Amino acid sequence: MSKRILLLPGDGIGQEIIAEARKVLDWAQANGAELTIDEGLIGGTAYDETGTPLPEATITAAKSADAVLLGAVGGVKWESLDYAVRPERGLLGIRKALDLYCNLRPAVVYPQLADASTLKPEVVSGIDMMVVRELSSGIYFGEPKGVETLADGRKKGYNTLVYHTDEIERVARSAFEIAMKRSKKVCSVDKANVLESTELWRDVVTALRDAEYPQIELSHMYVDNAAMQLIRNPKQFDVMVTTNMFGDILSDAASMLTGSIGMLPSASLGEKYALYEPIHGSAPDIAGKGVANPLATILSASMMFRYSLDLGAIADKIDAAVNSVLDQDLRTADIMQAGKTEVGTAAMGDAVIKALG
Ligand code: NAD
Ligand code: IPM
Ligand code: MN
Repeated sequence: MSKRILLLPGDGIGQEIIAEARKVLDWAQANGAELTIDEGLIGGTAYDETGTPLPEATITAAKSADAVLLGAVGGVKWESLDYAVRPERGLLGIRKALDLYCNLRPAVVYPQLADASTLKPEVVSGIDMMVVRELSSGIYFGEPKGVETLADGRKKGYNTLVYHTDEIERVARSAFEIAMKRSKKVCSVDKANVLESTELWRDVVTALRDAEYPQIELSHMYVDNAAMQLIRNPKQFDVMVTTNMFGDILSDAASMLTGSIGMLPSASLGEKYALYEPIHGSAPDIAGKGVANPLATILSASMMFRYSLDLGAIADKIDAAVNSVLDQDLRTADIMQAGKTEVGTAAMGDAVIKALG
């Protein structure tokens, strides 16, 4: 039966990188994968056309798809809008609507890019770690929140960091399941020395390990130390599980181990639905220039074939093709190294297609 894919290009470089991922989907279709590919609106682009960053039609289409592949949202043009209709609300809204609580952000250093990182090659080479970010709760969604004007004229802006037992347990379970297929090592990152909500996080993660995953070697780290350790000695980590906001920040940091944020794909998973997206944003500074790295999005498509479409053989081929273009010394500007050939977004996409054969 044909698998339904919903493409949500979004804003800025989102349009450019999804166009390259689309080439890969078209290749898969021409090579035996039965796919039905639709496109929908999200973010600022959706706001401009419909007055909302997350049209009802997008949610409906996402729920009837086997998987969603998203580019990026946001941009200077929409920064002065009311928070409720900002492009980012579209992304948060679709994550919530699909109950995508588990965000997998794999940081893998390709040997060809070991010296593309700003860190020393010996520090990063061989890295293959997985950041498991809680995605549908925490301070991003906690109530109360808002900005109010107080009686004395001052304004008060506030957000609430809330976690419930079940929200912690389900993402911890995902992390443990992933670790069981890897090195059985999990580092849970929190701020339990200061924040009660993450004291609960630590307790729940520990209790689940004790009750159901005694084989897992579980460690805990405060987020400030984790940020430092990621740069000091990243190879100590295998699976890292953490809250929504800490995972947002630490995965951007982890991306630089790989050479560029343009290399990091992600899978956002729930019980029923799945969405795939690069971890980077709409990159307003380079949008429209045709220089963005499409590999994070192409690798996100690979994760989609593997996790949601049951087409692991196609995912293997995409991963091999990415490896091959790096072997051919082709580099977008963000991963450019001395002696290599600099190519733009479309040429990189075309090279992946050529390598796919
Ligand atoms: P960003 O990730 O868009 O860009 C940060 C830096 O990384 C920029 O210098 C950019 O040029 C570079 N970069 C990002 N992706 C790249 C790629 N594929 N190839 C080469 N270079 C790349 O983060 P930002 O500048 O903080 O945010 C810009 C906008 O994107 C904001 O509106 C923000 O809210 C939004 N955003 C969206 C997402 C998302 O849709 N998932 C993620 C992060 C930020
Ligand atoms: C990400 C982005 C989003 C987040 C924003 C744009 C809502 O930074 O996907 O990492 O903070 O989750
Ligand atoms: Mn982010």
